[in-house]
Amino acid sequence: MNSRPLDWRVLPDADAVAEAATRIIAAAAVDAIGQRGAFRLVLAGGRTPEAAYRLLAHQGADWDLWEFYFGDERCLPADHAERNSWMAEGAIWSQVPLNKRKVHPIPAELGAEVAAEHYARIVAAAAPFDLVLLGVGEDGHTASLFPGQPLNSEALTVAVHEAPKPPPDRVSLGLGALQSSRYLLVLATGAGKREALGRWQAGEELPIARVCHGQRVTVLLDEAANPGA
Ligand code: 6PG
Repeated sequence: MNSRPLDWRVLPDADAVAEAATRIIAAAAVDAIGQRGAFRLVLAGGRTPEAAYRLLAHQGADWDLWEFYFGDERCLPADHAERNSWMAEGAIWSQVPLNKRKVHPIPAELGAEVAAEHYARIVAAAAPFDLVLLGVGEDGHTASLFPGQPLNSEALTVAVHEAPKPPPDRVSLGLGALQSSRYLLVLATGAGKREALGRWQAGEELPIARVCHGQRVTVLLDEAANPGA
């Protein structure tokens, strides 16, 4: 299905995945800053990305040249503990000397439609992103693009309702933004991910497969998530 082979890397456990992700992100930052003077990084929600952010925060970097965006957000108050931005605030944004004007959370507290429209303007100004981190759900969703919901190939952002994973209202980057990015880094750990990864490898058109189709992609997974184990 993919016109480019995906780069699948199986690592022993979730800690090793977080460490490898940290190394890839740091190297991408050096590369992007060297070539373009800025590093535009899209964060993912989820447990494994959070572990990687905590590791990253302990590294030295040209933090004032990093720009942070988000792949999706839950329509909850801005300071809600289940917001992806709240997780990033605790794991990295509050831990390093950032230029706060370069931190771009999705304003999902405004409601899905308003926030999606607002964020589309931010994405249009920032794209192409240098590196997009993505998680994978047990059902093959990624960001907040869920199976069974229509995928518009042009959309920069999507207002999502009735998401099967709570909360039902969300905002996600769309295929248009994700597929124009320079590099996608997918993180998947734990036995719960094995079936979805197997379906993706078998060529099923899951959202994660649609997003990664034809792109430059590395998938970091642990042994527990490995469908080939
Ligand atoms: C969300 C996340 C979601 C997540 C995957 C994997 O808002 O729910 O952005 O897309 O990345 O569900 O999450 P885990 O790594 O925690 O399994």
